Amino acid sequence: MHYRSIKNVDLFEKKVVIRLDLNVPIKNVQVQDTTRIERIIPTLQAILSKKPRYIIILSHLGRPAPQPKAMWNQSDSLAPIASVLQKFLSHPVIFTSTEIGPNLYQELNTTPANSIVMAENIRFYEGEEKNSQDFSKALAQLGDIFVNDAFSCCHRAHASVVGITQYLPSYAGLSLDKELHALEQVLISPERPVIGIIAGSKVSTKIDLLMNLMEKLDYLFVGGGIANTLLFAQGYNIGTSLIEKDCLDVARLILEKFKKSNCTLVLPIDAVVAKELTSNVLPQIVDINAIENLQAIYDIGPKTLEKSRLLLNSCKTVLWNGPLGVYEVEPFGSGSTSLSEIIATQTKENKLISIIGGGDTIASASKYVNDFTYASTAGGAFLEWLEGKFLPGLKALEK
Ligand code: 3PG
Repeated sequence: MHYRSIKNVDLFEKKVVIRLDLNVPIKNVQVQDTTRIERIIPTLQAILSKKPRYIIILSHLGRPAPQPKAMWNQSDSLAPIASVLQKFLSHPVIFTSTEIGPNLYQELNTTPANSIVMAENIRFYEGEEKNSQDFSKALAQLGDIFVNDAFSCCHRAHASVVGITQYLPSYAGLSLDKELHALEQVLISPERPVIGIIAGSKVSTKIDLLMNLMEKLDYLFVGGGIANTLLFAQGYNIGTSLIEKDCLDVARLILEKFKKSNCTLVLPIDAVVAKELTSNVLPQIVDINAIENLQAIYDIGPKTLEKSRLLLNSCKTVLWNGPLGVYEVEPFGSGSTSLSEIIATQTKENKLISIIGGGDTIASASKYVNDFTYASTAGGAFLEWLEGKFLPGLKALEK
């Protein structure tokens, strides 16, 4: 562990400031997905068991423009999340819309011991995204100790992630620790051979990822629109499939780099194609070199699935990011579902360590994702870490 962990820190009667990622989908004031809330329960329970003076929760929700308090928009409020958290935690969570400053410090000091208080959306404040010194200091005055349990925000150099760590002893929370452990199982000390499954619609969003992973992994199976662009750059006719024509030079560069690397690139050998993207269309299965001009690729085909199954059989670790097909439209989600079933089965049999990340990817594998070793709910931070980029929030917690 190269990060300072909260595990063995004495928190008795301490005022604990914790940064969480409670950026969850909300519709009509109802939380739609509680995964992120459930993930941080063990950290809060562990802190509570050490009898702190209080815990003050900081989080953002969405990307509201900073506003004076009178203009704070209710639709960006964290209030609905406090009651959901309270249910999962079986401990009262007091939501406060008092602004960070003397009034809130006073309010906190009058709460009963062991209280949990949730402050309003941290992105309402000008100083948050600017990582301003004054705002960081104001945050630090909320407590004695800072805990970051929001891996998914560690790519943001914001005051509640980075600035505050200059003014308070700072530690990683349990779920951040777990996330890093999972990621390290793929890139830092993996059981080999290790395979990456990288898909999704756009190669432009995954260039750095592919470049970094080909240096570290043994196999990279590329699917989705990214594979389309690589196949087109190799000279295949892919009909009307989604590609990024302005990325063809990059695609050729990626293909060249693969040839020089020790990582084997695996591309689809067949596909589920159709003339239009609707659920009542009759899809066809064709080899990758037999796609007609008016057909488009919407999913991987059975030969590609079988090839992936055999590859997975020979591997000990798998990392998956990006849906393989247009999973939102039936029947084009079956490639992702079948692959996730294969991975889940091998994971349950202890033959595979499986890490999956990204909201869409998890949705495309939702039926089996609970049987994966680890499913990351982090989006940007997950990708940036895998791209080998510097994450300021993690740097701030280094030993
Ligand atoms: C996320 O949902 O990935 C995190 O909450 C970070 O959100 P952001 O991209 O708005 O910083």
